[in-house]
Amino acid sequence: MNKDIISKKAENGLKGRICIPSDKSVSHRSLIFGALTKGKIKISNFSFGADCRATLEIIKNLGARVEFLDDKTLNLFAPNKLIAPKNYLDCGNSGTSMRLLSGLLAACPFNSTLIGDESLSKRPMKRVIEPLEKMGAKISSNDFKAPLNIYGQNLEGINYFSPISSAQVKSCLLLAGLNSSGKTMVCEKVLSRNHSERMLEYMQANIETFKDAKGHYVSITKSELMPKDIFIAGDISSAAFFMVMAAIVPNSEIIIENVGLNPTRTGILDVFDKMGVKWEILDKKLVSNEEVGDIKVSYSPDIKACEISGDIIPRLIDELPIIAVLASFANGTTVVSDAADLRNKESDRISSLAVGLKKVGVQIVEKPDGFEILGQKNDYTSEVELDTYCDHRLAMSFFVLGLRNTKQTLVKDFGWVNTSFPEFLNLFNKIST
Ligand code: S3P
Repeated sequence: MNKDIISKKAENGLKGRICIPSDKSVSHRSLIFGALTKGKIKISNFSFGADCRATLEIIKNLGARVEFLDDKTLNLFAPNKLIAPKNYLDCGNSGTSMRLLSGLLAACPFNSTLIGDESLSKRPMKRVIEPLEKMGAKISSNDFKAPLNIYGQNLEGINYFSPISSAQVKSCLLLAGLNSSGKTMVCEKVLSRNHSERMLEYMQANIETFKDAKGHYVSITKSELMPKDIFIAGDISSAAFFMVMAAIVPNSEIIIENVGLNPTRTGILDVFDKMGVKWEILDKKLVSNEEVGDIKVSYSPDIKACEISGDIIPRLIDELPIIAVLASFANGTTVVSDAADLRNKESDRISSLAVGLKKVGVQIVEKPDGFEILGQKNDYTSEVELDTYCDHRLAMSFFVLGLRNTKQTLVKDFGWVNTSFPEFLNLFNKIST
């Protein structure tokens, strides 16, 4: 993982059309829900970053068979019944794998253990263990952290008002609910990404969604999932690095093809509007029950600061590190609040961002639930070495910041990008002129 890299000021504009890796959230779900269909599904444009490969290995350990058709396409043959795994199930760095699979495994008629790497083993799992226990699950853990020993039980549906808007918690409970008696209903105040709901509808599960003044509800009962082929769009969370590059590097224009545009994920485009970033969607369509389109972003010389808080946060939670880089070039102070869960990501993204940006010379103030950044129009001018704290999104954000630093920016342990975006540097070289 520990390949350091040097990012340098981009002397010329970045130009061209690129395809970014496919959506990580949808890739995980295609495997997990696909493994429950009892049939064969073809998954096209799958994300082969380390996180999704971890989920792939786990569903193979649970009895699914996989046939690779090319480097982005696979046939998944679901078993008739999931089987007890022979080994620990290793989620690597992936919180999504651990949290979603805990819901699936809690309702299986066998025991299993989910483990993770050093960073994942520090992340909170209480948010899934507590509601699963309310459904009758038996899970032992290291003070609500991995490893999770799951003793499969017959579960009963619950009504759960989630204290946080988290797609991982919601999806975990939907997976448990798929195999529980009665109805499982999850309510969240602000709608988090709804890929699970959409894929379950697409596979014809007994699922309902509605909303009222208290929030957004989804309910599910035991269901047989229909095997349906899935095409996975590009990940807007990966596209975001190239979108911000295009916005801040003079003379740039980048088109990113086939990006997922599910409205629960496109908060960054609303922020672009507020900040005066020039963007356009070309050729929008619906594929496998998800909106997809090409995004064009051009250099935007007059970036304005803005406030980012409240209901928009779940729609851009993974993009906040790269939005912080954008804010570093805005006129005025950008204020991000209501984002305390950033501290529970692959790193404590509030403090790790603050440490890195400060070194470069950005005026950033850390807050308990976010940060404030006073941007500047000019390039930064500090020779720096930046730590990435085992966090792929920090590594890529710091690389992008380096494109507007006149001195050398050394990004340590850049190899962490392989978690989600192994092709990052190749694509960057392709658009460098
Ligand atoms: C994800 C949900 C989000 C996000 C993560 C992927 C998912 O986490 O940050 O990268 O695929 O469900 P939370 O649900 O904890 O907000």
